[in-house]
Amino acid sequence: MPVPYEAELREIAGRYPQARSGLLPMLHLVQSQDGMITPAGIEACAEVLGITAAEVSGVATFYTMYKRRPVGDYHVGVCTNTLCAVMGGDEIFAALKEHLEVGNDETAAKREGDRATVSLEHIECNAACDYAPVMTVNWEFMDNQTPASARQLVDDLRAGKEVSSTRGPTLCTWRQAERVLAGFDDGLTDAGPAAGPASLVGLQIARERGWSAPGLDTPGSSLAGHSTTEGAPGSSLAGHSTTEGAPGSSLAGHSTTEGAHGSSLAGHSTTEGAATGEGDD
Ligand code: FES
Repeated sequence: MPVPYEAELREIAGRYPQARSGLLPMLHLVQSQDGMITPAGIEACAEVLGITAAEVSGVATFYTMYKRRPVGDYHVGVCTNTLCAVMGGDEIFAALKEHLEVGNDETAAKREGDRATVSLEHIECNAACDYAPVMTVNWEFMDNQTPASARQLVDDLRAGKEVSSTRGPTLCTWRQAERVLAGFDDGLTDAGPAAGPASLVGLQIARERGWSAPGLDTPGSSLAGHSTTEGAPGSSLAGHSTTEGAPGSSLAGHSTTEGAHGSSLAGHSTTEGAATGEGDD
């Protein structure tokens, strides 16, 4: 059965030299329209791309961002990966489970007077460890949270109050966010602060010390983002390498410079000229 958004599915597929490359944003469009990954959406994607429904389903069931049951108007994530966990993420998640009376990946019941629903999920590292413990709402960052601030956040969302991401725009609904992830611009890309002080520490240190990025052909530079200059005591935040003394080197988004914790989730934020690049993890 055709879906009413088939034309937009075809539009997404048409963006790519190989149409099937568009499957991920197409699935986000399905979620923005149907609220979840539906059998009709899977069939429509398969039809547009000329692949089987099983192939589409294989992708949709692999990634946790694709939901096979409805989530709330605001899908709240709590990072419980190592750093956030020890900084309070586990406490926040426990507090929200109790406050919302839900388990992981469940939607809280809508109470009388609520204007929106909230669902809860524990999430893995969002490469935002410099703001631990970190939460997300419809994939926008909420930094440096506490159990109390988390409870207030979900109460405000349920009450329909306007809430802004700590590093992004005013929070929109799940379906609206999914449409943005499908590649339809909402005009808010540059809304809100892009980088907070914790992301800019490395840039500040580099400027104070007169450091600058080495050229690509500089011996010892980290061209692939995975090598280390001998004797460099720089930090390695995500299991990748670092080059102290060359604070601008971050060519593949996998090296980092001591003291600089740039963050980047899904390409939403970046650190202008920063001596850092913890990005694609
Ligand atoms: S451990 Fe939570 S953002 Fe990295």
